[in-house]
Amino acid sequence: MTEFPAASQIHTTGAAQTAAFGRQLAMELSPGDLVALSGDLGAGKTCLIQGIAEGLGVTEVVNSPTFVLLNVYTGRSDAGTALSVYHFDLYRLATSDELEDIGALEFFDDPQGISLVEWAERMPELLPARRWEIRLEHGATADERTICWQRTAGDAHGEKTE
Ligand SMILES: Nc1ncnc2c1ncn2[C@@H]1O[C@H](COP(=O)(O)OP(=O)(O)O)[C@@H](O)[C@H]1O
Ligand SMILES: [Mg+2]
Repeated sequence: MTEFPAASQIHTTGAAQTAAFGRQLAMELSPGDLVALSGDLGAGKTCLIQGIAEGLGVTEVVNSPTFVLLNVYTGRSDAGTALSVYHFDLYRLATSDELEDIGALEFFDDPQGISLVEWAERMPELLPARRWEIRLEHGATADERTICWQRTAGDAHGEKTE
């Protein structure tokens, strides 16, 4: 298999391809990682997360948590141990206090968990500096999307390393 680049972009034509990219990305994730997804309503954030969750061994149905802030699923790490998968949707979040009140920052730091955050661009200051940044954009036709990603440097607790 070709190496998964730390920064690149792909074009997909259909939800199945976006989910397939999510399954590929899942193989690059380690416990403690956070994936920050941004993009308009309908861009495909939930679709991509469904692929990531499947790749992480989540067997439950993953839906958009738009009416709640957080859904928690159980997946499986490479080592075969249980992995918590935290699916956040910040769309309706009014203030960063709300996120802190539910203990989100501890979830972000959970060394046994992976956080997947929709509408991450709404609260950039709360995200750890070291994360996967993914931006989804609509394309020329209804089924086309461009997905750009990069892995940012820094330690897990917010300090940039460079
Ligand atoms: N290439 C594509 N990638 C992802 N979703 C797509 C694509 N083409 C069409 N779609 C459709 O767009 C919608 C994306 O919805 P969703 O993943 O819930 O977006 P978001 O979470 O960003 O609001 C779905 O109905 C999906 O079937
Ligand atoms: Mg969504």
